[in-house]
Formats: sequence, C-alpha cells, structure tokens
Amino acid sequence: MRSELATVAVVRPATVLAGELRVPGDKSIAHRALMLAAVAEGESRISGLPDGEDVRATIACLRSLGVRLSPSPSGGGFKISPSPSGGASGWGFTTPHGLLDCANSGTTMRLLLGLLAGSRVWATLDGDGSLRRRPMARVFEPLRLMGARIESENGHPPISVRGTRLQGRHHSLPVASAQVKSAILLAGLAASGPTTVVEPVPTRDHTERLLQTMGADIRRRDTMIELRPSHRSLAPIAMTIPGDFSSAAFWMAAAALRPDWSITIRGVGLNPTRIAFAALLRRMGADIQVVIDADAAEPVGALRVVGRPLTAINLGAAEVATAIDEIPALLAVATQAEGVTTIDGAGELRIKESDRIAAMAQGLRDMGAVVVERPDGISIQGPARLHGVGVDSRGDHRIAMALAIAGLVASGPTAIRNADSVSVSYPEFFQHMREVVDVA
Ligand code: S3P
Repeated sequence: MRSELATVAVVRPATVLAGELRVPGDKSIAHRALMLAAVAEGESRISGLPDGEDVRATIACLRSLGVRLSPSPSGGGFKISPSPSGGASGWGFTTPHGLLDCANSGTTMRLLLGLLAGSRVWATLDGDGSLRRRPMARVFEPLRLMGARIESENGHPPISVRGTRLQGRHHSLPVASAQVKSAILLAGLAASGPTTVVEPVPTRDHTERLLQTMGADIRRRDTMIELRPSHRSLAPIAMTIPGDFSSAAFWMAAAALRPDWSITIRGVGLNPTRIAFAALLRRMGADIQVVIDADAAEPVGALRVVGRPLTAINLGAAEVATAIDEIPALLAVATQAEGVTTIDGAGELRIKESDRIAAMAQGLRDMGAVVVERPDGISIQGPARLHGVGVDSRGDHRIAMALAIAGLVASGPTAIRNADSVSVSYPEFFQHMREVVDVA
C-alpha cells in the first residue's frame, strides 16, 4: 500500500513529445476477469494484469474469500481457481476473517457487493478515506430489491453484505454507471429468474462481453441487457488483458497539446464503449488513427496521435458519460484550444476518487488557465499560457496525471503534490513520461 508521506513529482516544460508506449493492463477488465474467474468452474489463466493498487485490492479481497490466485509458472500471469469449498458450482467463497479492504477502488467494492450478495458468506467491505466518501446506495438499493442483505450506516463504507437467495428483476438505472450495472449482473448470476438492466446511455460493456465469452445466457438490445440463470456454471477463461485506454488517454492528450508532437500506443483496448475520448480529441483537431489488430472478447490495437491546432468543443451529459474517466485529460487539452470548451451534465465527476471538477479547476487556474466552475460542469477559455507552480492531485491518480500533462506546456516546472497516487492505475506513469518527453 501507498506511503502516507506525500510525494511530489516535478514536471518540466517539454520541447518535444514523441515515441511509442505500451500502457498497463485495463483495470476495468482486470477487476471483472478476476471476479468472474473466481466463480467459474475450473482454472482460469489471466495475463497482462496491471500492477496498480486498485487491482491489487481486488486480488487481496478474492484471496481473503478463499479464491486461489497464484502467479503462473510461465510468468506474467495468474492462475485463478474458485475456493475449494464451493464444489463444482464455483460459488464457494469462504467467510473472510477480517474486513475486505477495497483501498481506493470503487470498482472493487461495488462489483464485490454484487458478487457476494447471492453467495453463502458474509463480509464487511471498507476502503480508504476517499472511498469512504463515495456513494454506495446506488449499488445496494437495486441489490436490496433483489433480496440482498446489505447494511451501511449512512450509504457509505464500511458496508456489510450477508449472502442470501436473490430474485432476478427488472432495473431501470437512473445514472449511467457501469459499476452499478455490473454489480446487478453479477448478482443476477446467482438469482432465480431473469435480471434485466436498462441504462440511460450505454456504458462500458466489459462485464457483458466476459459473461458472453464464459457461456452465460446474456442478451443485449440497445441499452437493455438481459441475463437468465443457467444450470451450467461459467466456463473458465484464458485471456490477456489489453492496455488501458483510460491510461493511454493521458499520452493522447499530451501529444495533442502541440502541433507535431506525436505518440503511438500499442496493445491497447479499443472497446467501442471506451474510446469516445478519441473522437472528442479528433473533434478538437488532433490527428488520430486507430487500428484494430485483434478482436476476441475485447478489441485490441494501436493508437497514433499527432498534434494539430486545436479548437474548443462543447460536451453534454451523454458524451461525458462515455468519456467519464478521460475528462480530466480533456480539460488539460482545453487550456490549449482556441475558444471556450464547455462541459455540462458532469456532476458524476464530483463523486469520483476526488471532486474532479474542483480539483481540475483549482489546479489549472493555479497554472494560469481561465476556468469557470459550475455545480455540474466546467468551462475553460483557451489558449492559455500556463506557468509552472505547485498543484495538488488531492490523492487522485487521474488528477495527478492530467495536471502532469498540463505541466508539459507550462513555462516553468510544475510540482505535483501527492503524485504517488498514480500507482492506483499507472505506477509507471512518470517513468514513461521520461521516455517520450524531451525537456529543455
Ligand atoms: C468503471 C466505471 C466508471 C469509471 C470507473 C471504472 C468500471 O464508474 O469511472 O473508473 O470499471 O465499471 P461509474 O460506473 O461509477 O461511472
């Protein structure tokens, strides 16, 4: 786990950014692949798992539940088998001795609540200060409607779940959230009767794709997903996790900041529900090429971005939802685009690992950008001449990386406090920055 001592990373102005990178494995896919492998019948093999703290938290929680996870002898991957107490069904978690520590990871907590709701164990899930501030009722309320026994004092962690028999039902989700959708589908696996979910806009569909690959009876039509209980257990999987598009987005944004800066990212996940940011950056003027090399459970390929003169864009709620994790990077780019970039319908950003609207508004304003903050949105007037100052990531990995990218086009060194938060999803971030950036 991360040290309590705040670390500072200094980013110097770049003269050029160019080169090729591979980013760590996709954490959204990794959490799901690990959890579904934990309830499959037999041994799964997963390689390309990211080494970040979020996925480590999922691995540690699953181990505490009796799931067997061991590095595969061939290296670079894990073998995963359900707890032996589950018999052939795969649902034999063992009741953990202590708290399940989800650390900073909302996905770990929300998906595990769904997975455990229909199990035969009980557990209490907790997390760090940031996770304790995040809303969990959006997950446990729909799960309770299926019969789940979940308790929390105020809608926030710590939160306990006592596995019980669940009944499938229809859910119409008020917020676009892949985590809520996935928690319901994981609970639906153990429920009697069909479970259906309708989303306000389509969100990342990794859970659905994995369930399909593992033989679940799942159907999809537009924004509706239907999962029917099956007498067959899930088949084990063998997969390599593709690179995380949301991590690649920081390099895409960085290359877009100046005409003729460029980056190529290979082996990255190109799931259509994840890559809206590429279209947004293209709309701002960047030259972007996307090439799909393979498409098994998830499409994988290469991205190339070349910087071009940028113009401002406007985004509403539906587009924000499809690029939710990339908005901090987009705001860094907006400081260099001609005109006012306006983002509305983005209230969800205030309840991520930090209040990302406030964190970006303050960081970019401190660097000299002209920023207007609204309760559910933000506007940035560009182009701005940024200057290097001290800024704070607020312990949020994506804020640290977005402000670091902005620092590449500032006039002096930018000192990012709590920069070690990048290890939540991308421990190699600053090392990779040194590889592709030349400084004066
Ligand atoms: C995630 C879904 C998104 C995203 C988060 C990961 C997932 O959250 O912000 O980083 O893996 O399902 P919401 O579903 O709450 O919007």
